[in-house]
Amino acid sequence: MLKGRHLVEPGDFTIPEMETLFSLAEKIEAEESYLRESCRGKLLATLFFEPSTRTRLSFEAAMMRLGGNFLGFAEPGSSSAVKGESLADTIRMAASYADVIVMRNPKEGAALLASRYSTSPVINAGDGGHHHPTQTLTDLLTIKRLRHSIANLTVGFCGDLKFGRTVHSLAKALSQYPGITLIFISPPELNVPSYITEGILKKAGVPYCETDSLEKVIGNLDVLYMTRVQRERFFNEEDYIRLKDSYILDGEKMKLAGQDMIVLHPLPRVNEIAVEVDEDSRASYFKQAKYGMYVRMALLASILGVV
Ligand code: NCD
Repeated sequence: MLKGRHLVEPGDFTIPEMETLFSLAEKIEAEESYLRESCRGKLLATLFFEPSTRTRLSFEAAMMRLGGNFLGFAEPGSSSAVKGESLADTIRMAASYADVIVMRNPKEGAALLASRYSTSPVINAGDGGHHHPTQTLTDLLTIKRLRHSIANLTVGFCGDLKFGRTVHSLAKALSQYPGITLIFISPPELNVPSYITEGILKKAGVPYCETDSLEKVIGNLDVLYMTRVQRERFFNEEDYIRLKDSYILDGEKMKLAGQDMIVLHPLPRVNEIAVEVDEDSRASYFKQAKYGMYVRMALLASILGVV
């Protein structure tokens, strides 16, 4: 039962709980009217202290499709954060107005803090370079739909694995599934943090390796998860400029990949996937964005206890 629960990081939900969400999301996708109006009278607060397109819009669309409503802000400049209000106080207020809170914040740990002060469930929509668990639900549902199972897969993560919170969350969640092998592809400066490799993967006995060459490993992958270099988390612009085009997936590189490999990307894409790849049937990132709305509908309905 997910009623009243917070979602701060992927480990907060068990595999069976996530599977229930995926089945619900699939049912919503198949049947337009399913759960329509189930959240009538319920309010969602969307508190975005950092930019967002997909996550915020898909949560708001999800709530409206369920018959509920939303309030909130899309940038901190329009909230009392600019007057110096603490996050704890902002959250206390939002919780007294709304039945569920979705928050994105540039500080690692902000969602955990919010969950401690909130009397309404808090859903983490990204806390700095740390975690992004609802993107992970989106990614896992996409893998399940397109590869038919989340087990026995070799998954490659490519790009900014240091600051990319979607990578941290998905790697952590995948470590709980059987037969998963992970390949991390990044320049050494953007390697995945050791709290993921040493702290989670080694302990869980998940085989993984690190490389800086996409060409060398692309032929072994079932899933290629591309990411953008996270400019906003760099300390200086020079490093960003030097690293931003480390990997560009194009038609030539796609020729080295298997016919069943799927390409995912949490989006926004900057330069790391050439537009020509969009026409390739293995490019699945726009489908992925759509599944994000269905899984967020399933999540909101479950957390609000209407299903
Ligand atoms: C991601 C994020 O915010 O971490 N975007 C998203 O939610 N789909 C990825 C990114 O910004 O690169």
